[in-house]
Amino acid sequence: MFTVTNEWKDSKSLLVGLFEEEEINKHTIDKVKNSCGVDLEAYIEAGHLSTESKKLDKVLVMNESDLKNIYVIGLGSTQELNEDKYRKTFGRVFQSLIKDKVSSVTILLESLIPGGEDVERYSALLSEAMLTSTYRLPSFKTNQKEPVDIDELTVWTKQEENTVLEALNRGQAFADGVNTARYLVHLPANILTASEMAEFATTMAEDYQFEWSILEKEDMEELGMGALLAVNQGSVEPPKMIVLKYQGLEEWKDVTALVGKGITYDTGGYSIKPKTGMPGMKGDMGGAAAVLGAMETIGQLKPKKNVIAVIPSSDNMISGDAFKPDDVITSMSGLTIEVLNTDAEGRLALADGVTYAQSQGADRVIDVATLTGGVVTALGSWMTGAMTNDEHFYKDVEGAGKTVGEPIWLLPYNDDYKAQVRKSAIADLNNSPTRKAHPIMGGAFVGAFVEKVPWVHLDIAGTSIAEGPHELGPKGPTGVMSKTLAQYILN
Ligand code: BES
Ligand code: MN
Ligand code: ZN
Repeated sequence: MFTVTNEWKDSKSLLVGLFEEEEINKHTIDKVKNSCGVDLEAYIEAGHLSTESKKLDKVLVMNESDLKNIYVIGLGSTQELNEDKYRKTFGRVFQSLIKDKVSSVTILLESLIPGGEDVERYSALLSEAMLTSTYRLPSFKTNQKEPVDIDELTVWTKQEENTVLEALNRGQAFADGVNTARYLVHLPANILTASEMAEFATTMAEDYQFEWSILEKEDMEELGMGALLAVNQGSVEPPKMIVLKYQGLEEWKDVTALVGKGITYDTGGYSIKPKTGMPGMKGDMGGAAAVLGAMETIGQLKPKKNVIAVIPSSDNMISGDAFKPDDVITSMSGLTIEVLNTDAEGRLALADGVTYAQSQGADRVIDVATLTGGVVTALGSWMTGAMTNDEHFYKDVEGAGKTVGEPIWLLPYNDDYKAQVRKSAIADLNNSPTRKAHPIMGGAFVGAFVEKVPWVHLDIAGTSIAEGPHELGPKGPTGVMSKTLAQYILN
């Protein structure tokens, strides 16, 4: 996939960047002239090449070398460039290369890095952008065209080869996580059942030597996981509690739990969704997908940290056996729950998920879930909604999100909100208090099961699906929070 070289090697396509600052471009122009005999300066003077941000030009090469095209991306001024813009710029560039059927390209690294700074960071961003932006979701169409992929990226640089290669691999590890999450969300629920997701997770565990276990229905009964079991009650598909452990420290201490909502399909149950609200609910395991994506990245990069991934998984169906509004159930924690709405199933599954994570030694908990339509109303598809019981922990998670380009917005959480989920004449908690503040009520319900350790809740109902194709990927699943979770662990 990646080759790093200090010498120019003949290649059919070359990609270079032009900044507004002429100093940086001088080196680029010299390098290109000396290695392939093309004088970019002449093109610039003739007005054929632009330094304008995000503008991509193409120079056709007509000499005796193998080189056929030089792609020139405008990068604007180094002052205005930031990491988010960088990712998106190169996402577009690699998408354009694929449209041009380029499957192998050489990039002149120094021409693409502002002021030659932070080479490793920018190299990782380049490989991440390339692999996420050109990712293709699996298709079940029977006659498919053979697609073009960039399968060879040669980085031409004066930097030490191994340093750059390592950085590119790091970017790839993040991209692989994102694409794994996208893949899982994309799969329809008749294919990705809880059992299939467990199968996928254990295969990953074997690949990366994670310790793993799958709790079966009988195990859940023994452990008293009445909340997850209630959600599964109307289904013919058995529930699974998927557990992966990554131990990067000598001892099993200082453990971060990543708990992902793994509802493979959400019909709403007896509080059934309207027919327009149901399509898309195959993606209700987006939290689980983000957790598995992060584990993929963690498995590749092997940080000195301890992580437990917990995924409560089931579909939410109706039948004569299904749970109903008014039912009272007992969660693994012992807390009893009055079910007011069977469509508020994610928080039930998560309740047993976070309780189980704490029973396995979690010192802090992050839960990720496509939990509420309300968060889509509040924040749209641009930010993930969050809640926390620990400002410091939240700042670290939010900071990780910023680093990887996944913005997060904190919602309020106080005694008034906490009181709402505890309002029940018959049980300790209710799963759907009022018509108000749905995203906060969902979070507050999960929060009732994590009172003793720092906790961050991430509601990705709005950010897990892109309505159309974008600079960093196709229409559909975004794989959001896979990078944030991995980045948090790596920090
Ligand atoms: N899976 C849904 C939330 C959702 C909605 C995800 C739209 C993605 C897009 C969740 O289980 C749900 O049904 N939530 C209800 C909660 C309500 C019943 C308290 C909702 O948001 O309406
Ligand atoms: Mn629901
Ligand atoms: Zn749901």
